[in-house]
Amino acid sequence: MTVILSAKKLRKSYKGPQEVPVLNDVSLELKEGESLAIMGKSGEGKSTLLHILGTLEPPCSGSLHIKGQDALKGSLSLLRNHYIGFVFQSFNLLEDYTVIDNILMPARIGRLKTSLGSPLHKRALDLLEEVGLLERADFPARLLSGGEKQRAAIARALLNDPALLLADEPSGNLDTANSEKIHQILLDCCRKKGKALIIVTHDTHLATLMNRQLILRKGQLYERGETPCDS
Ligand SMILES: Nc1ncnc2c1ncn2[C@@H]1O[C@H](COP(=O)(O)OP(=O)(O)OP(=O)(O)O)[C@@H](O)[C@H]1O
Ligand SMILES: [Mg+2]
Repeated sequence: MTVILSAKKLRKSYKGPQEVPVLNDVSLELKEGESLAIMGKSGEGKSTLLHILGTLEPPCSGSLHIKGQDALKGSLSLLRNHYIGFVFQSFNLLEDYTVIDNILMPARIGRLKTSLGSPLHKRALDLLEEVGLLERADFPARLLSGGEKQRAAIARALLNDPALLLADEPSGNLDTANSEKIHQILLDCCRKKGKALIIVTHDTHLATLMNRQLILRKGQLYERGETPCDS
């Protein structure tokens, strides 16, 4: 099976008035169709790790390859646009744009045709239906509830059919029925379409649906149940 993501010896610390060490020697490999949950306490660096894996932030050292390409140099926006779907913890929707315009944004950034009736426009509507937001397509994003924003962010992440899907607490704001729906969509992406999936979550039920569960603690990843002092 093709390796989608390979990260080796990633280190990260934030410099400032006070140095904040976050990641210390994190290595990770994910093949197509594989899913991984990253858990850990608040502030341990889960979002930082996901941003680094998504090429949104550089590590201080280490290597990162996505679909065999060096993901620390070259045109990262192109690589990101082609291969990575990102669901942010804080959604990052463009608040004054409509929901459908937000969903189509990755395709527009990639300069693909998104006019009414185009295959991508139809795909965007299908995704909105899948996440239960079709009737909100023409609403400005700012009017959506927190859970609706989260679902819109998931639809946007799936638009370009990315090989790698990174989701930061994708069901953090959802009721049980909607979080089950989102979990199913993400798992189908992985099992039926062969995407590689990494989810950061505090939800142990969601984590157990993934192939592997890792805990980030003091800058290092451990298999669940094997942290030096499990919590
Ligand atoms: N730009 C930054 N500059 C300095 N410190 C930062 C920066 N971004 C994050 N940090 C610090 O790095 C640590 C890890 O943050 P991160 O957001 O990755 O945690 P997290 O595990 O995702 O937490 P949560 O579960 O609350 O979302 C935190 O202590 C945070 O304060
Ligand atoms: Mg976080």
